[in-house]
Amino acid sequence: MTARLRPMTTADLPAIMRLEEALFALDTWTTAMYRDELAQPDTRHYLVAEDGVGEGEGAGDEAGVVGYGGLIAYDDEAHIATLGVAPERQGEGLGALLLDALLAEADRRSPVVLLEVRADNEVAQRLYASRGFVPVGRRPRYYQPSGTDAVVMRRERTGGATGDGGADRGVSIAVRNERGAERPAGATGDRTRPAGADRGRGTP
Ligand SMILES: CC(C)(COP(=O)(O)OP(=O)(O)OC[C@H]1O[C@@H](n2cnc3c(N)ncnc32)[C@H](O)[C@@H]1OP(=O)(O)O)[C@@H](O)C(=O)NCCC(=O)NCCS
Repeated sequence: MTARLRPMTTADLPAIMRLEEALFALDTWTTAMYRDELAQPDTRHYLVAEDGVGEGEGAGDEAGVVGYGGLIAYDDEAHIATLGVAPERQGEGLGALLLDALLAEADRRSPVVLLEVRADNEVAQRLYASRGFVPVGRRPRYYQPSGTDAVVMRRERTGGATGDGGADRGVSIAVRNERGAERPAGATGDRTRPAGADRGRGTP
C-alpha cells in the first residue's frame, strides 16, 4: 500500500501515541510534549506517513497514520528528534521516505544535522549512514536501565557522508543535551534524542 507524507497535526496525536507505545515502550513522549512541539513551527517540522486514501476520502484519518518523524532546526544546527514506523509496516521504505523529507527540510534551514541512536539499533544506524550520517561520538550508558550507549551521528549539508573535519564540533554540540540523564529509571527506549532538546523541548 502506498503512503504519503503530510504535516503532523494535533488531530494525529491519538494515533501517534499508539505508535509511541508500540515503538518506544517506557520512553514515550507525551501528548503534551507533541502539542508543545507542534506549537513551534518556526523551529519544528513534524511529518506523518499515512496510507493512501481516495481523493478527499479519509483525509486526516488518524487510523491511517503508519509512521512519523520530527525535525528540530535552528540556523546553526538541526536535530532529528524522532522517527518511527508502525511495526507491521517496517521494511517498506517508509522510514527512509520520512527521513529524506526531514533532511530536505533540514538542508533548507541548517548546515548540520545531528541525532542520537541506540548503539544496538543497527537498522536505524544503517539507515542514517545511508543518508550521509557519520558517528562522531558515543554517550556511555545513555539509555537506562539497560545501560546501552547512544551513538551520536552527524551529517553536513554538503559532503556529510565522508567529512570528518567537523567531528569534534559535532560532539561538543551533542553533549549540550543532558536530558538523557533525566529519563525515568525504566526507560529503555530506542529513540533518537535531539541534541538540542534542552533548548527547544521544555518539560511539558
Ligand atoms: C528505524 C525505522 C524508523 C526504519 O523504518 P523502516 O520503514 O523500517 O525503514 P525502511 O523500510 O525505510 O528501510 C531503511 C533501511 O533499513 C533496512 N531495514 C529495515 N528494516 C530492517 C530490518 N528489520 N532488518 C534489517 N534491515 C532493515 C532496509 O532494508 C533499508 O535498507 P536499504 O536502504 O539498504 O535497503 C523503523 O524500523 C522503526 O520505527 N524502528 C523502531 C523505532 C526506531 O528505532 N526509530 C529510530 C531510532 S529513534
